[in-house]
Amino acid sequence: MTITRRNLLTSAGAGALAATLPLQAFARGDGMIDLIAAPSGQRLYGADGPLSDLWTYNGRAPGPQIRVTRGERVRVRFTNNLDEPTSVHWHGVRIDNRMDGVAGLTQDPVMPGGSFDYDFVAPDAGTYWYHAHNRSWNQVARGLYGPLIVDEANGPVFDPARDLTLVIDDWRLDRDGAFDVASLGAMMDWSHAGRLGNWLTVNGEAEPQLTLRAGQAHRLRLINAANARVLEIDPNRFGAKVLAHDGQALPEPVAPDYAPLLLGPAQRVDLLVVPEPGGDFALEELSGNAPFAFARFTVEGEASARAPVPRLPAPDLPEPDLSGARTIGVEMTGGAMGRMGRVTYNGKVLRRGDFRRTGQVWAFNGVANLPREPLANIPRGETVVIETVNDTAFAHAMHVHGHHFRVIERSGTDLDDGRPWRDTFLIGAQQTVRIAFVADNPGKWLYHCHMLEHAAAGMNTWFEVA
Ligand code: C2O
Ligand code: CU
Repeated sequence: MTITRRNLLTSAGAGALAATLPLQAFARGDGMIDLIAAPSGQRLYGADGPLSDLWTYNGRAPGPQIRVTRGERVRVRFTNNLDEPTSVHWHGVRIDNRMDGVAGLTQDPVMPGGSFDYDFVAPDAGTYWYHAHNRSWNQVARGLYGPLIVDEANGPVFDPARDLTLVIDDWRLDRDGAFDVASLGAMMDWSHAGRLGNWLTVNGEAEPQLTLRAGQAHRLRLINAANARVLEIDPNRFGAKVLAHDGQALPEPVAPDYAPLLLGPAQRVDLLVVPEPGGDFALEELSGNAPFAFARFTVEGEASARAPVPRLPAPDLPEPDLSGARTIGVEMTGGAMGRMGRVTYNGKVLRRGDFRRTGQVWAFNGVANLPREPLANIPRGETVVIETVNDTAFAHAMHVHGHHFRVIERSGTDLDDGRPWRDTFLIGAQQTVRIAFVADNPGKWLYHCHMLEHAAAGMNTWFEVA
């Protein structure tokens, strides 16, 4: 992977002084939060750059940060002021199925001018996000996403002033430094690694500068909102430890012994940083041959007594019982340099050359998206193992709706270091990954690739829990 932000445009970039954190969403008197999707302009390539034509929630990408306490009710009055239908998905939340926001599966799309009230209880503390879930390859790429932070039941464990949300996006800018609308939907992206960009922003800003306090425990919540880019970062370079993956706390903070840490599309990682005086550092994207900083941190204050590091409560998720588990096999095929095999789409066998008409070039178990019949019908409360075999030439970021799972095995290796809870896992080319979870949430749930072009081009299935 090569990020070309340094060679696309060679001037020094924004040099922003003040860090922009996502705006906080404010509820009205009746507890309802207004969320409005509409076209809006935003300067991505610094303050002197051109305005990009984006689609955003409440006028800015990322949309407002919605922050609630675990167990609290979230009520959002969503209004669609776009020219096309849309819906809002609450990624990673073990939500009531009717509120999952999958247009065409759990709700009708919200038509232009229409509205929909989302109303759910946030069951787990952690770092989540929301995004459009209709033609997501288009709508998320244009900026329709925002952070959803759920504080621990007794209030935030970290000092809110030291608890920073960093929503990272990978934009494709054109030669002038504006959002490249013309290349949306490029077949090359659909059949290869998805829409990769050339410009990273954090909370909508290029290379922001944030200030941390020496000796204090900080929580950095990284959210990868990119359509397709797998970020590679190395927390060891600045002495950070991993607190949580996909919102779910690890038993204790861990210094990863693997480097770099991969953060796939839709994944989150919470980092613990206790900076030393003068220990300025940068978050760097290490993939490709020209690593570069995409956020900078200045450490203020003198050496002082180190504040104690707060402990996150353990996740409160149902433990899979592998002894009685049923295994569901998912074989991924297709894509460039891959084997497609016999694939059906809308009940018909796809032929060579159908790609231009259907856009379908990937499949799960020989079916391109979205099958009429579920991948599986699962009795509520059963433990399921999904064994995913990636017989393609690309990596994928697989997401299960409505549940968290443990990653139990990767190409024969037991992941004994915690078998982390996740809602999205990465799978490398030709790898096999097994995940396990208790299917305790009734309804129709998607299982799809979160590289959004791959999802649009066939990598989309669903299961039903009843
Ligand atoms: Cu984050 Cu089906 O989505
Ligand atoms: Cu994929």
